[in-house]
Amino acid sequence: GHRGALSYGAMRAWRASLLWFDPDADHPQLHFERDGLLVAAPGADGVWRVQAIGPFEAVRPRWPQLPVQDASGRLIAPGFIDLHVHYPQTDLIGAPADGLLPWLERYTFPHEARFADPAHAEAVAAFFLDEMRRHGVTTALTFATSHPASVDALLRQAQARGLRWIAGKVLQDRHSPDGVRDETERSLLDTEALIARWHGRGRLGYAITPRFAPSCSDAQLRGAGELAARHPDVWIQSHVAENVDEVRWVRTLYPHDRSYLAVYERFGLLRRRAVYAHGIYLDDADRARLADSGAAIAVSPTSNLFLGSGFFDYAAARAAGVTLGLASDVGGGMSFNPFATMRAAYTVGRAAVRGDGAAKVGVSLAPEDLWWQHTAGAARALGLQGVVGSLAPGSEADFVVLDPQATPLLARRTAQAASLAEWLFAFIVLADERAVRDVHVAGAPALQHSSNVDAA
Ligand code: GUN
Ligand code: ZN
Repeated sequence: GHRGALSYGAMRAWRASLLWFDPDADHPQLHFERDGLLVAAPGADGVWRVQAIGPFEAVRPRWPQLPVQDASGRLIAPGFIDLHVHYPQTDLIGAPADGLLPWLERYTFPHEARFADPAHAEAVAAFFLDEMRRHGVTTALTFATSHPASVDALLRQAQARGLRWIAGKVLQDRHSPDGVRDETERSLLDTEALIARWHGRGRLGYAITPRFAPSCSDAQLRGAGELAARHPDVWIQSHVAENVDEVRWVRTLYPHDRSYLAVYERFGLLRRRAVYAHGIYLDDADRARLADSGAAIAVSPTSNLFLGSGFFDYAAARAAGVTLGLASDVGGGMSFNPFATMRAAYTVGRAAVRGDGAAKVGVSLAPEDLWWQHTAGAARALGLQGVVGSLAPGSEADFVVLDPQATPLLARRTAQAASLAEWLFAFIVLADERAVRDVHVAGAPALQHSSNVDAA
């Protein structure tokens, strides 16, 4: 029978072109609807979820009286997921150095020492989250600093914005200067307290965060592994095989381990929900261990280009079945813009060398593959498939409204695309935050959205 608009409660609908992914596939399974309708409603927990997504003509009759927000001509897509980023390095973007290790010594550690001041942490956290959201990034796996209050600051700010966010206190009890070095026993107690305080609180999650093998004692890595075993749904994040000097250093520090990755495995840090940034200098045995354990690689192309670390081997990773996704790795990374990360990933995929002169097979990543690696693929790497990154029915309603008319060149180029793939590729190559018209955050009070420009 006929139902009045009031009976729809807080339900809302958007008419636009729609792009979404199968949540469970281990490869990009793209859906596209030129004239689509997206319907979302808040659950008892206040988090908005997708009720329906599909062709306008097929979905509309299910809720004939529901007011529809007309975004025709725009593209609604899942909010982007950044698989590896350092919020305390926001003010460090673009600091040049002769590679990773000098960069850490000269800029990163002194800069992160400032986060001993909770007020500083809170201010940077607020700016960082607004900047991420403005670029359409609605979830990220994030390094804080070694100071526990730096996690509190970020997750408090994420909670205020209703974002699904994951963060962890950095563990670094050696080879680190005063101001950022922590103390083994204390660092593990702090981690445990932060897990209790934040993990699973609303949309927030905790990640056990050994900085990288060179900065952690055996006792600290062992403690991290014990915590990971006791909290199997807590994430793990670290760095692996990023830079040739770093890899050489790890070999001298851990002469009895087969490889850099094997160090983490020995301490119980290789499992599902473990995400390792970079992974440039892995061998086939490492890739097999990643694939078997369910641990993932956060491919960080703008960082690897900026620091001169090398070129990720997509062909080898894919052949081995390694789970992967895209990451900005700000402040080694150069941009919060997910399109900049996708186009850097494309160019890195094409490269036929690794960075140490070793040959690799160049690949041409398809546009839907690049997009998937920054949305549903990244969600899968986090074990959050079906929760975020896809817009399939039942998933949380984090989404971006993209404007293909945002710049004259973007409008001109996309208008001439002869296929969806060509359209998506042109969009990836040409877009920046001007194309991100609206960002809807599923946990925001009353589905508040931020907008770069006035809504149409
Ligand atoms: N390895 C250890 N710490 C860091 C960091 O802060 N950034 C990058 N890119 N690599 C690291
Ligand atoms: Zn990093």
